Amino acid sequence: MRRILVTSALPYANGPLHFGHILEAVQTDIWARFMRFLGHDCVYVCADDTHGTPIMLKAQALKITPEALIEQVAIEHHATYRDFLVEHAVFHSTHSAENQFMTGQLFTALDQGGYISRRIISQAYDAHAGMFLPDRYVKGTCPRCKAPDQYGDSCEVCGATYAPSDLIDPLSVVSGTPPIERESEHLFFKLDRFESMLREWTRSGAVGESVANKLDEWFNAGLRDWDISRDAPYFGFEIPGYPGKYFYVWLDAPVGYMAATLALTQGPGAAFDAWWRADSRAELHHFIGKDILYFHTLFWPAVLTGAGFRRPTAVHAHGFLTVNGQKMSKSRGTFITGRRYLDILPPEALRYYFAAKLGPGIDDMDLSLTDFVHRFNADVVGKLVNIASRCAGFIARGGGVLAAQLPEPALYAEFAGARAAIAAHYEARDFAQAIREIASLADRANQYIDSQKPWTIAKDPNRLPEVMAICTQGINLFRVLISYLKPVLPAMADQAALFLGKPFSHWDEIEHPLLGSALATYVPLATRLDPQVVAQLIEADKTAAAAPVSPPPASVQSQPKSTPPVNTAAPPTPASAPASAPAPAEITIDELAKIDLRIGRVIAAERVDGSDKLLKLTIDLGSEQRTIFSGIQNAYSPEQMLDRHVVVVANLKPRKMRFGVSQGMVLAASGEGDGVYLVSPDAGGAAGMQVK
Ligand code: MSP
Ligand code: ZN
Repeated sequence: MRRILVTSALPYANGPLHFGHILEAVQTDIWARFMRFLGHDCVYVCADDTHGTPIMLKAQALKITPEALIEQVAIEHHATYRDFLVEHAVFHSTHSAENQFMTGQLFTALDQGGYISRRIISQAYDAHAGMFLPDRYVKGTCPRCKAPDQYGDSCEVCGATYAPSDLIDPLSVVSGTPPIERESEHLFFKLDRFESMLREWTRSGAVGESVANKLDEWFNAGLRDWDISRDAPYFGFEIPGYPGKYFYVWLDAPVGYMAATLALTQGPGAAFDAWWRADSRAELHHFIGKDILYFHTLFWPAVLTGAGFRRPTAVHAHGFLTVNGQKMSKSRGTFITGRRYLDILPPEALRYYFAAKLGPGIDDMDLSLTDFVHRFNADVVGKLVNIASRCAGFIARGGGVLAAQLPEPALYAEFAGARAAIAAHYEARDFAQAIREIASLADRANQYIDSQKPWTIAKDPNRLPEVMAICTQGINLFRVLISYLKPVLPAMADQAALFLGKPFSHWDEIEHPLLGSALATYVPLATRLDPQVVAQLIEADKTAAAAPVSPPPASVQSQPKSTPPVNTAAPPTPASAPASAPAPAEITIDELAKIDLRIGRVIAAERVDGSDKLLKLTIDLGSEQRTIFSGIQNAYSPEQMLDRHVVVVANLKPRKMRFGVSQGMVLAASGEGDGVYLVSPDAGGAAGMQVK
């Protein structure tokens, strides 16, 4: 028996769980359930990630304490996971006594080991709000391409990366005032001291091939010190011995895995040590999204090693979930929360779909609503459940007891014999392959029943034993399949077990068929999904989406966070609008009147080489033609733009960009998420007409 501790990434406690979170939890849960089904001691722990600037500011905006915010969110997160049948041994919190204790212990050990250094750095400071500003909380004009309204770390138009102090006319997102530079002492973790250990760990099978290659890039770029402290005000743990300094949220976040274990083992001691001490013989598996690899494959193993703890056995990264082919977005209505789904649909349908999509690699996955409906209805209802429902009625009418023998033992042996291969797919996290093989067995089972035609034979009362034998075979094939799917469809498997009169307690049990025993009354195990209900997943949100013209910092966690740049490791993208995003500055009617708005027709549109944001548009304004670069490539294809009427700011100062000069701006509004909506004139407007 293996002892396996499993985690998924700790969701930020400032918003609801969305489909990306659910995907990850379902992946982890299937794997953990599978391991337990094999008889291993496998424990899955998780927690809320509660610290940091976005949570502090969100609480401020809501006029509640951060403690009250995270408490409320924890209740919601917990309930949502539970309702998706995600089985945590503990769902804990990084804002806990256990976590404070462990973080302090780790820090002290690192400090004593000589892995912590101190130095003074200079950073953007909001004098108005009285706080230092993470890069994403400073916005201004890109120093390279001059695009306005860019974040302090990188430009979304030209892709340049820089420091907040490089921005032209920077403004604090918190107060709307220009930040100043201010010095302060910070604590750093000396990551480079662990390079050889990390290189060796990387090649020990701890990560997949593509991740190992990514790590090589990072090694070659050089491992730099990691800034692990933040100045007050900060919602987090104060650093022992450094009043007014707090641990950066990403330092105490993974420690939350240990804190959750502490809660499980009811405090420190032998049981805890067996999981986490350097000499632990247990396995430790982290499931995460590919955006947080740097933290889990470099910082975290190094921190653990430096503090005298074990390293992870493996870090399993998955790709990102898109919805109907696009990044999840609030304004498009594709930012689907777990709760919205649960309000209208059964959890296991989504678990099945995610399983059918999940492979071992880091490729992104798309949730297409039509595909979702089809997959569940065809595979689970049409193939799997159909086998049971077809056979159950005949058995009930024939006395309710399974035959004493199988008519086709070889067919059964073939089904049961597939379990080694299917187990290997589960273990390797190739759930998609496991599902494919199970679905193809389900096809075989249905073919068997079709070929035997019990409904024809049943017309002859003398042939009842034959009918019972065929249906006993069918029920047993069904039993094998639902047993294989138990990690994915746990509630359905439990219900099937009630019907079969025998619980599924071990993966290998289905080696032996179920014969001569009574069946309970069959209750339908699943019903078809109604596409109209499924469509509500998106439409319902759309109506709720407001579209303010100026978006607060990327509010949706559906986009990979960039590799943390070294010293001031990238703050996690705020998962919701920072508290007091500045209201757009007021303008007078005279200022408004200066804007020369005209309607034009797009006569040519093409993608721009070297930019994944921009489209190059040629626009006919009637009196003249203009070339305008517009950052709408994510939302509109060149084909969609062609021949379209748009509203143009005709007197915007021409802007020289890397790709050419942009002569004006096409008006678009963006929603709360990352959607962009072109402002279109009424269809009747004539090209070139001036609307002002
Ligand atoms: N709090 C950190 C993790 C700390 S772990 C010690 C964090 N939180 S998060 O809420 O932003 O993301 C939690 C997990 O959800 C991450 O593994 C992330 O990759 C995953 N996902 C967020 N959006 C996602 C998709 N659209 N698709 C799949 N997973 C994604 O990062
Ligand atoms: Zn730029």
